[in-house]
Amino acid sequence: MLDMPAIRDDLNAVYDLAPNPVLATGMQTEYARMARVVSPADWAIHAPYVAAINQLKKERNAAILAHNYMTPEIYHGIADVVGDSLQLAIEATRTEAEVIVQCGVHFMAETSKILNPAKTVLLPDMAAGCSLADSITAEGVAEMRARYPGAPVVSYVNTTAEVKAASDICCTSANAVQIIRALEAETIIMTPDKYLAQNVAAQVPKKRIVWWDGSCIVHEQYTAQDIRDFRTWNPDTRIIAHPECPPDVVAEADFSGSTAGILDYVSRERPGRAMLVTECSMASNISDAHPEVEFVGPCNMCPYMKKITLEKVLWSLHTMTTQIEVAPEMADKARLAVQRMIDLSARKA
Ligand code: 13P
Ligand code: SF4
Repeated sequence: MLDMPAIRDDLNAVYDLAPNPVLATGMQTEYARMARVVSPADWAIHAPYVAAINQLKKERNAAILAHNYMTPEIYHGIADVVGDSLQLAIEATRTEAEVIVQCGVHFMAETSKILNPAKTVLLPDMAAGCSLADSITAEGVAEMRARYPGAPVVSYVNTTAEVKAASDICCTSANAVQIIRALEAETIIMTPDKYLAQNVAAQVPKKRIVWWDGSCIVHEQYTAQDIRDFRTWNPDTRIIAHPECPPDVVAEADFSGSTAGILDYVSRERPGRAMLVTECSMASNISDAHPEVEFVGPCNMCPYMKKITLEKVLWSLHTMTTQIEVAPEMADKARLAVQRMIDLSARKA
């Protein structure tokens, strides 16, 4: 666990991080992107960190890759690239920076390292895990292979390098249907998200999809009754669910897609009101670009994603910790599974 009081002392000895309304007022370009969801008082607190991180980023030749579930001050203030898991994996292969700071969770940083073995990949807090990645090991993959001989294994990117290395191909929620359709086998093993697997199975009825018993602690909390109730009270609201939600929740929604798919849908459809059945920061991050859309309804917080803060990003770049390492042999095998997914997604696009 990070020793935050010690980290704060270290940082304050080098940087002027006191709330600074004058500095904040001078950083209107950055603030304009988050003004609807971050108050001026909060911006005065964030601005010194944003200024210090953006300066240090240049000195270190670093790029910040941030997932759509990051808080607005990270997403709009310091990120060079934002996106869903697939976009971040693709961007990790394109960046020319020497250092990648992953503002997301451990499996995302590991994926960046797998794709860029020669680069330094930093994760600001190693406790930023994922309930899906925690739910399966390489032994679990072997168990599934023994139960369904000959069936290919498609593992969600929300897995460890060890599990990716034991899989045939990866997928994300953006391309899972594409990947499953492209495989010739009739029976396909999907790990570790049972709900993503069930949602894909509903769209590809000709295949027999079998799954591991994993789930996302954020999306599994929603119930179909919640959605029905919400629709009764709010009949004009467009309901948009992430495919990590249980299938009966997805069935009640107007649209289901990855976090990038959700953004595309909102940009295309521009509904008057929308409820995003996903992590809380998603609506905050896209609301500035879509002032015409009123985002309403409940959301659930991912405790892992929220481990990443401006303070920890600054400390990470300042100390160049914590560096992600993946054993070369395992990285080589895992890279095959990730690269197959990227190639197949690009071919189909
Ligand atoms: P996507 O951004 O790929 O939709 O994934 C959501 C997620 O839960 C990542 O942890
Ligand atoms: Fe994992 Fe769910 Fe958090 Fe994504 S939202 S990192 S799937 S626990």
